[in-house]
Amino acid sequence: MAQSKLWTKAPTWVVYSLGFLPAAYLVYGVVTNSLGPDPIAVLENNLGEHALQFLLLGLAITPLMRFAKINLVKYRRAIGLIAFFYVVLHLLVYTLLDRQLDLNAIIGDIWKRPYITIGMSAFLLLVPLAITSNNFSIRKLGAATWNKLHKIVYAAVILGALHYMLLTKTWQLEPIIYFTLAVLLVASRKFYPKRKKQTRQNPQTSKTQTA
Ligand code: HEM
Repeated sequence: MAQSKLWTKAPTWVVYSLGFLPAAYLVYGVVTNSLGPDPIAVLENNLGEHALQFLLLGLAITPLMRFAKINLVKYRRAIGLIAFFYVVLHLLVYTLLDRQLDLNAIIGDIWKRPYITIGMSAFLLLVPLAITSNNFSIRKLGAATWNKLHKIVYAAVILGALHYMLLTKTWQLEPIIYFTLAVLLVASRKFYPKRKKQTRQNPQTSKTQTA
């Protein structure tokens, strides 16, 4: 209990700073030319992996609160936005550096390579979530609609993890672990203790309000 209180005392900017550290480390790698013989692949893969890690961390917040009574809800928006930041960088590295803005090649990839089609779908699903991750949108949409809309994240994370699994032709352990985690985190929603009827959740505090 005391431990969970300690966690919630850190200001949100600490989470943003920690979240941007891996990106800073990659920038350092670029500047010092220490990313190895294929720096574009290293950037692309690392950014994709960080995106997935933060997406999974965001999904873990509710189960942590429900099952372990660790309340990190106040960091959820920051974690979600950090995840989106990595997805956008991942996409930028792919379009600008990997494909050098060759639109035919990019459209061809999206059309012909299932893992790219799926990655793109995950990205598109995350866009409305990132756009509405602010107090104005929560007020405008209302907590119930906002919560409903943000359930899209479950599909986006599963697609993101599937995208990783389909990258390789052989079964690799790491993507399987990520995919299993994504499925378990989404499925865990089915096993929460039932809330009292006619209550809705405030997305910022996760406190329930009687309707
Ligand atoms: C939620 C969205 C996404 C997530 C979570 C994600 C995640 C990942 C991960 C984990 C990897 C592999 C990293 C590794 O091997 O260590 C990866 C690789 C890659 N992703 Fe994504 N990705 C997403 C969206 C996209 C999109 C939108 C595109 C392009 C349209 C894309 C293109 C690629 C490419 C080209 C690779 C590298 C493939 C290779 O190594 O040959 N991803 N992504």
